[in-house]
Amino acid sequence: MTSLEDIDRSRTQLVVMNDAAPWREFKERVLREAGFRNVLSFDAQLRLLEEHLNNGQGRSADLVLFGLPPLLADSLRLLEELQRIFPGPVLATSERYDPEIHRHMREMGVHDYLPVGECSEEALELKVETVLTAHRVNALIDENDQRTQRLFLNILTVMVKILDSKDHYTRFHSHSVALWSRMIGRRKGMDEEELIRLGLAAVFHDFGKIGIPEEILNKPSRLTDEEFDIMKQHPTIARDLLSSLELFQDLLPAITHHHERWDGRGYPAGLKAEQIPLWGRIICLADAYDTMASRRTYKEPMSQDQIVEQLRRGHGTQFDPELVDIMLQILEEKAADRNDA
Ligand SMILES: [Fe+2]
Repeated sequence: MTSLEDIDRSRTQLVVMNDAAPWREFKERVLREAGFRNVLSFDAQLRLLEEHLNNGQGRSADLVLFGLPPLLADSLRLLEELQRIFPGPVLATSERYDPEIHRHMREMGVHDYLPVGECSEEALELKVETVLTAHRVNALIDENDQRTQRLFLNILTVMVKILDSKDHYTRFHSHSVALWSRMIGRRKGMDEEELIRLGLAAVFHDFGKIGIPEEILNKPSRLTDEEFDIMKQHPTIARDLLSSLELFQDLLPAITHHHERWDGRGYPAGLKAEQIPLWGRIICLADAYDTMASRRTYKEPMSQDQIVEQLRRGHGTQFDPELVDIMLQILEEKAADRNDA
């Protein structure tokens, strides 16, 4: 059985290093199961990584997952050495969360940091995907404008994190929607550049919730009609907040219309069928899937059978029927992958 993300993930090379064996094996297993076929493992030997990177066979690593030693001085020394050898993105993990180490790593340009206590299989996969995507997005930004655009993107990414962290159970939601959107987009035949832009639109799809009062966002019971009217403003709030940024121009239609319905009964514009931008239709479906599959303060995750039933119900009413067919196929293959494993 082939993996869902074969084209992309099979070409991506990850290096897992400087970790105790059980922890390293955990990372390798999770990443392999997530479809990364090239996972290379080193045990605290930067020299071996240097040899590997210099072996003259072209691009030989896309991301290094680096286990930090407990002492700050050791961490900094090794990270400095690592960055001399490898200028690409680094995802650092640590046995415990230490704000001092975290601050130093940020200053040194380490792309992300994951304390072991938070490192579930899902979190690790999403972090890797997020760091890889952010790195690709940065590479796309025009050289002349790089510093300003990056600054904006970094600020906005922090805001998405704040938004996700308002509710413990939704903190990976934005990135998870991006992951599913990219999978659907890939099946629609999009190229890597379009998938990056689609993924970015998906990460920011609920950005407008920043303008919605917290008591409405986190209300554990059903919203009143009046509250729902306020909640429904979030796509247009996002459009208004992001419209001055050049980087977001082609993403705004998808962000603005991710709550439209195929039958025209969605919001904010009541667009119908193919009037709805394709990326918006994809994000809508990925968003609905992730919400059904996740635990929330007010509900348990739905079973895969219940989700499939809901998706079928939305076929041609809430969702683009062709996209639902793609999604059902992806879910079927995922289930078969799990049975094979
Ligand atoms: Fe939304």
